[in-house]
Amino acid sequence: MIINRRILTLDEFTIQQLRQFPTATGELSSLLRDIGLAAKRINVEVNKAGLVDILGDAGSVNVQGEDVKKLDIYANNQFMGVLKHGISCAGVGSEELDDVVVFDDEVSNNSKYVVLFDPLDGSSNIDVNISIGTIFGVYRRVSELGKPCTEEDFLQPGVRQVAAGYVVYGSSTMLVYATRRGVNGFTLDPAIGEFCLSHPDIKCPPSGKLYSVNHGNFFQYEEGLRNYINACQRKDKTNGGPYTQRYVGSMVADVHRNLIKGGIFMYPGTIDKPGGKLRLMYECNPFSFMVEVAGGKATDGKQRILDIQPTELHQRTPLFIGSKHMMEELETYYKP
Ligand code: AHG
Repeated sequence: MIINRRILTLDEFTIQQLRQFPTATGELSSLLRDIGLAAKRINVEVNKAGLVDILGDAGSVNVQGEDVKKLDIYANNQFMGVLKHGISCAGVGSEELDDVVVFDDEVSNNSKYVVLFDPLDGSSNIDVNISIGTIFGVYRRVSELGKPCTEEDFLQPGVRQVAAGYVVYGSSTMLVYATRRGVNGFTLDPAIGEFCLSHPDIKCPPSGKLYSVNHGNFFQYEEGLRNYINACQRKDKTNGGPYTQRYVGSMVADVHRNLIKGGIFMYPGTIDKPGGKLRLMYECNPFSFMVEVAGGKATDGKQRILDIQPTELHQRTPLFIGSKHMMEELETYYKP
């Protein structure tokens, strides 16, 4: 039997990174390990979703006014559980909960980080066996250590994230996370139950051929944006068009694909919903951080997503994100 010791597990990788900073406390590594554990537990349930009676609405409506699926609740509880019992997290904000949860105990009050997460994004796809995901952003708290964390710790612009990541439950399950030092992807090896480094130092290709947008909303978009989408479909493009349209309707899958292959993902504002659909804190900030670290760009059409000062936990924003040159091309058509 050949044992490939060149493959690092998530834990080995984070410890290796930690050793490069002699003064580091290991809290971030520990946090990522906790998140990896929650992801593995959620993965088991996602894989069983077609087999057991876990499908369907749990009968409640979340703070966004959307139906809550049972797996959403399960995923939310797993994340809350590992973060509350870990040593690194002072409190959490979840897309599924109205308010932040402050873990007011001695260990948590002395923890440096807070985490914002969307436990199961794209959950309307569960019933039809399409990829879904978990998204998270980690912030260093600004309130005094030793005391419970406060709302101020959560309402920080995305640029202050120290790490962000996602898990995609797809044909295989992957955890991808970024710190300022780089983006790395780990694929779950079900035989050993470990995330193994499979995509080291991910870079978003500066150009690509994929564009992702909900075409059903086309006539709800502003004119400049409609012109750009039309241009994506033309043969006379100097940069290799026409592009290929790909849209799963599950942001984690869509942005993951474009991050690896090169592309642009757009969820613009519409006439009915000028603020768009996606949540700044749970979806847009983590992905914007990762894509920027990988060399791409992310804006709301007017400004960098990571510079937006949030005013409320559940606010929405239009989002344009992806390969640098494609984003620059969009900006020549669309100036809201
Ligand atoms: P949900 O979790 O309610 O399924 O929403 C998914 C999000 C995001 O992941 C995806 O990109 C977007 O909503 C799709 O929205 P549209 O169906 O409006 O295109």
